[in-house]
Amino acid sequence: MTFDKTYEEYLCYFNEYLDKFCNELNCTPSVLNDSLVYSLKLGGKRIRPVLMLAVADIIGTGAKKVRDFALALELIHTYSLIHDDLPDMDNDDFRRGKPSNHKVFGAGNAILAGDGLLNTAYSALFNECFKGNEYVSAAKYICDCAGVYGMIAGQSADLLHENDDVADENTLEFIYENKTGKLITAATVVPSILNGGKYYSELKALGKKLGYLFQLTDDILDVEGNFEKLGKSLGKDEQENKLTGVRVYGLENCKLRVDVTGDDCIKIIDGIDGDTSFLYGFVNFVKTRLG
Ligand code: IPE
Ligand code: IPE
Ligand code: MG
Ligand code: MG
Ligand code: MG
Repeated sequence: MTFDKTYEEYLCYFNEYLDKFCNELNCTPSVLNDSLVYSLKLGGKRIRPVLMLAVADIIGTGAKKVRDFALALELIHTYSLIHDDLPDMDNDDFRRGKPSNHKVFGAGNAILAGDGLLNTAYSALFNECFKGNEYVSAAKYICDCAGVYGMIAGQSADLLHENDDVADENTLEFIYENKTGKLITAATVVPSILNGGKYYSELKALGKKLGYLFQLTDDILDVEGNFEKLGKSLGKDEQENKLTGVRVYGLENCKLRVDVTGDDCIKIIDGIDGDTSFLYGFVNFVKTRLG
């Protein structure tokens, strides 16, 4: 099966599961419900859940075992985007092709929508913990990736280093590894934790590299992407004077780094047995993405 077809299958599987979750959501007041569902249903590529489901199939964990972790991860990712767009963070008016959560519901409700998604994700993770020790470990792994030694640390550094005079490479790597790499690493590592640690080190290394690659392309697309395809405003990084790959390396060198990092990902995948064709396709998808 082609990469696109397989991606579509995982996407449909996940979106059905997410739709069910959204339909069962019944919060009062209704503005809370509406603001949660608004951002979840806007779409998005769902790369984290798709990657988690695919890795689970490849190493024999099975999609069913990871699907609630995939759901929790997408809830956390969506919350991170709602907060990332707030006026006091990146001040972005568009997300996934539509007005950002705070443009529709106001900043106060957007903060609560993010908080609500995070809490609900943790509740879903706690539910999994009743199933056994490996589920507890997997749940903790996601929490750590999302938390103050993970995505939050990256977001904090991203804010702190706006307007830096010196474009420091180590700082950039810290930002990439944490704000983006950690949630992508959660996607690759959870299936391993739920399957006796199978290919743990390879999958952890792969998540980190894919995260780097993904943020590199995100930074490039902010400069030369297309609004229709990207679904978010362009030129924001320069406007906010962010410490990005483009600022540290320059646009052309970023593109060279995309190729080198893609090759690094492939070398890691070479060390994983089984039908890994989807993973090779995934690397190419991230390298060449327009949205
Ligand atoms: C955007 O993530 C934030 C970054 C880490 C660059 P995605 O590009 O995965 O966003 P959606 O979920 O597809 O909207
Ligand atoms: C955001 O990075 C990473 C998150 C944890 C949300 P960016 O700020 O570059 O993501 P976009 O460009 O707004 O999607
Ligand atoms: Mg940001
Ligand atoms: Mg942003
Ligand atoms: Mg960006």
